[in-house]
Amino acid sequence: MAVVDSGRHPIRPTRPLPVWPKPERRNSNSSSGCLKPIKTAEGFQKPPKNNTVAIETLRDLFTQTEVHLWDDHPKQPNGLVVDCPLNTKLSNIIGRYWNQRYNLFSKFDQGIKMDVEGWFSVTPEAIAKHQARRCCGTKGGSGTIVDCFTGVGGNVIQFAQQTNCQRVIAIDIDSRKLQFAIHNAKIYGIDRSKVMFMLDDAMVVGPKLRGDVVFLSPPWGGPDYLKHKTFDINTMLKPCGGQALFDMAKKIAPKIVMFLPKNVDPNQLAELALSASPPWSLEVEKNYLNGRLKAVTAYFTKIRW
Ligand SMILES: C[S@@+](CC[C@H](N)C(=O)[O-])C[C@H]1O[C@@H](n2cnc3c(N)ncnc32)[C@H](O)[C@@H]1O
Repeated sequence: MAVVDSGRHPIRPTRPLPVWPKPERRNSNSSSGCLKPIKTAEGFQKPPKNNTVAIETLRDLFTQTEVHLWDDHPKQPNGLVVDCPLNTKLSNIIGRYWNQRYNLFSKFDQGIKMDVEGWFSVTPEAIAKHQARRCCGTKGGSGTIVDCFTGVGGNVIQFAQQTNCQRVIAIDIDSRKLQFAIHNAKIYGIDRSKVMFMLDDAMVVGPKLRGDVVFLSPPWGGPDYLKHKTFDINTMLKPCGGQALFDMAKKIAPKIVMFLPKNVDPNQLAELALSASPPWSLEVEKNYLNGRLKAVTAYFTKIRW
């Protein structure tokens, strides 16, 4: 596995510095802490086409970068699914993910466990390792990382492997996923005392926690997210819209990292950065794996003025 390029291409709008807008108030759903998306007569609001207002308003606080990662494992010609020990029905569902199993976990053959949602949603290892390096930095350590949506542990394993990371708090609402994450972390030799696994609703327990970085890889709503030209973070993310997730995460840490679909609208991410007062900086990083755009990672940072 090798990281070969981390190209940075800052976008620098040339307009005058704007007056920072106040965050928009939205209705809250008190029981789960989720904010409801705004509803219009036609249904949920869609982001306006080609709207870059928030990006332009953020000015120098917005950058767009890309990282090209390589993790080449032998592939089956014609995408054939072979050697899949799962039953036919299951192998039909996760077939192409089976072919990518070593991209998901290089130690797959040592007994990695996943459920169907885990197959769809685990962060590929090379991307998770890159995110962990960025979250933990190189100097002094990053202290505590809170992973609000642990899943089967793809990201948690990489955070815990960073020497600069002192502690990981790993939350998931699904006990089976947490059991798989604990099992998978063991396969990678993770020091169990470094990770605190929590079976809980991140939207409820999150605001009570404190960390240095909060990592969010919320469910994208299944593989169908790619059928949409643009992924609307306000209506398509689970368990809540992007604004509610951002507001919850702001209470945990001054750095928020969100792992999102490749068809996400960067302007909606800029709207989140602008919703803080004063606005947070935002880097939207495109994640390429073996030459293909896989996903987007958004890095929000609280700015000291
Ligand atoms: C995309 S997966 C995370 C994948 C993970 N990053 C990995 O690499 O394995 C999203 C996870 O969020 C969990 N989840 C959904 N709603 C949640 C909530 N309210 N609180 C905590 N976890 C939640 C799901 O059970 C699922 O395991």
